[in-house]
Amino acid sequence: MSEPEIKLYYKNVTEEAIGQEQGITDEQLKALAEKVSPLISELNEERQAGKTPYRDLPYDKEIPQKVRELRSKVEGRCENLVVLGIGGSALGNIALQTALNPYMHNLDDTQRSGPRLFVFDNIDPPQLVSFLAWLGYDDKLDKTIFNVISKSGWTAETAAQFMIVCRLLLDKLGPADCKKQVITTTDANQGILRRIANNAGFTSLEIPEGIGGRFSVLSAVGLFSAAMCGIDIDSLLAGARDMDTKVSCEDFYRNPAAINAAINYHFYQQGKKISVMMPYSYHLKDLADWYRQLWAESLGKAQDLKGNEVHIGPTPVKALGTTDQHSQVQLYREGPNDKLFTFLQVSNFDKDLRIGPAPDYAQELEFLAGKDLSVLLNSEKKATEYALLESKRPCLTILFDKVNAYTVGQFIYLYEVTASFAGALFGINPYDQPAVELGKEATFALMGKPGYEELAKQIQPLIEIDRDFLV
Ligand code: PA5
Repeated sequence: MSEPEIKLYYKNVTEEAIGQEQGITDEQLKALAEKVSPLISELNEERQAGKTPYRDLPYDKEIPQKVRELRSKVEGRCENLVVLGIGGSALGNIALQTALNPYMHNLDDTQRSGPRLFVFDNIDPPQLVSFLAWLGYDDKLDKTIFNVISKSGWTAETAAQFMIVCRLLLDKLGPADCKKQVITTTDANQGILRRIANNAGFTSLEIPEGIGGRFSVLSAVGLFSAAMCGIDIDSLLAGARDMDTKVSCEDFYRNPAAINAAINYHFYQQGKKISVMMPYSYHLKDLADWYRQLWAESLGKAQDLKGNEVHIGPTPVKALGTTDQHSQVQLYREGPNDKLFTFLQVSNFDKDLRIGPAPDYAQELEFLAGKDLSVLLNSEKKATEYALLESKRPCLTILFDKVNAYTVGQFIYLYEVTASFAGALFGINPYDQPAVELGKEATFALMGKPGYEELAKQIQPLIEIDRDFLV
């Protein structure tokens, strides 16, 4: 039996769908093919030279093996898994969980194969207080594993969460048992989290060298929580490998990442600086969040590869169908024509509901009766797409045969490699995030970290509240 697939559908960005003025003409597509084709070989060569190690994650045997071993070791005593991390150390975990486990995973024991999962990718005090109170009540701490994830090991938010949790564990369980409840995922050699893990003797997973947070979901970063919560990580990685053969294909017209990047690049140059991803599936909604980080951090850059100031990058926006039809589509159709839309559509939902009959006194609703909810959802997608096309707005669709670990693996890999292609087209480095680093350093300065005194002095006049401007 053949595996389900995802496909990129791009007719609705062409002149045939939205007219010559807005749509891509045959000549433009040919020109894009000529521009992108050499980049396919370049990226393949870069990959062979080991410069893009994220590309090889789906083939790594050791990481899933370690993840499985660790799962066997802890699953018997883990009713709650708590991920402490942020950005690339959290968004992939959240996306996998939402995509591949039931909506009620945390609340309904009968729908769960594995622990409840909580991902804290923020440091909001009342949120954490409420959660820790729930854990403390009924003594859940000794059945709770904390997976602290940080590539650099230095991120203040994650460090602070970790220090709060450690104090709690030490107070309630004592040093020996505290150790059993913490698993760190971080760089093999560098960073303060590695030092802590080594000194305290915490069980630890490693993030391979050269893989930035937003490209790390298929490493131990995303695989451990996924495997713990019953997600088929072998199938996830198999889907990514399958997509690898497609996105390595040197024929532009058969390479979905090359075409996707080319279309995104083309519309950016045409003034469509905003990229809206709109899944029509609750399960896919957090993949749009994951994409938002991938796009923003990879492509939003001040300088090109030659050091010229360019300030480039599409602004990624996430929306959810049908929810945001009722909050955003007015703008999307009648506001500025500055957006490229990418819908995520599912052909076969693994669960469905039949709509019941209309009451006798409301027969006007009978047109819905007896139809599956998935038919309504997909009709809403097509209706929104039609309305956007009427307004000459370009629309891509990623079609999922179904949502499972295999197709989600394909999607993740497709978009990671699309980001690499888009980076090459924009002429920027998609793998760094210097602007995020400055914010992290400024936080160190404001929190009084030694060595950041000068930066603190620079920041102070900018952030002090000037009462003359308070109204
Ligand atoms: O993609 C990235 O590199 C960032 O978003 C990081 O993932 C985020 O800043 C968290 O960093 P770290 O994993 O080092 O704590």
